[in-house]
Amino acid sequence: MKVIIFGATGMLGQGVLRECLADDRVRAVLTVGRSPTGRAHGKLREIVHADLLDLAPVEAELAGFDACFFCLGVSSAGMEEESYRRITYDFTLSAGTTLARLNPGSTFVYVSGAGTDAQGRRMWARVKGMTENALLALPFEAYMLRPGYIQPMYGATSRTPFYRLAYVVARPFYPVLRRLLPSAVTTTEQIGRAMIAIADHGAPKRVLGAADINAL
Ligand SMILES: NC(=O)c1ccc[n+]([C@@H]2O[C@H](COP(=O)([O-])OP(=O)(O)OC[C@H]3O[C@@H](n4cnc5c(N)ncnc54)[C@H](OP(=O)(O)O)[C@@H]3O)[C@@H](O)[C@H]2O)c1
Repeated sequence: MKVIIFGATGMLGQGVLRECLADDRVRAVLTVGRSPTGRAHGKLREIVHADLLDLAPVEAELAGFDACFFCLGVSSAGMEEESYRRITYDFTLSAGTTLARLNPGSTFVYVSGAGTDAQGRRMWARVKGMTENALLALPFEAYMLRPGYIQPMYGATSRTPFYRLAYVVARPFYPVLRRLLPSAVTTTEQIGRAMIAIADHGAPKRVLGAADINAL
């Protein structure tokens, strides 16, 4: 299969890209983002494109793909709703509507988060929930991943300096966390492998929590 990854420079995206490059089912990977990944690999091609709300200039290069793994996103901490919505909803739907048109019937896997709820009281949960609902209405096979805690593997690092530090502190506790909260905890590796499995043969449901991701 041929896959597109948005957000491949982020913690999750680095992990997903690693799994895609390692998996024989994936024969080509295209990353799209405002920054280069710094990776070189025979299967990998990159588009560095600053304005993700206008994909028209790169549209011709986005056709012919089987799946998109959408890992782009930010923490809502300290953000106004308008700015958070622009990145979370507008960027995602810009990619979603473009890819649904260019690759109808393809698979689109979005990462929202545990607690996502379009009717919820928390701003981030509402915006992520609206994003999920809009994607699920598009003419492709959309799947929503709602992980809780994600353990970065194989050197994947968050783009947020505070989170980088938090993950270093949390790392020794991960085995305990995994035992105590198996349905809330996953890793960048498991998410990457789950995305490939979904693109390869689908999943039993369209909205998947950490336990579903780990089972895949
Ligand atoms: N980390 C977790 O534990 C966790 C848990 C549940 C859900 N999630 C969700 O998973 C997704 C990825 O999280 P992460 O931890 O991988 O985040 P991250 O390390 O901060 O990476 C964010 C990614 O999004 C891109 N991005 C952010 N703002 C952008 C902008 N304005 N324009 C273009 N690209 C932008 C970054 O590109 P640049 O490199 O160019 O900045 C990077 O590729 C998010 O939606 C997050 O809510 C994460």
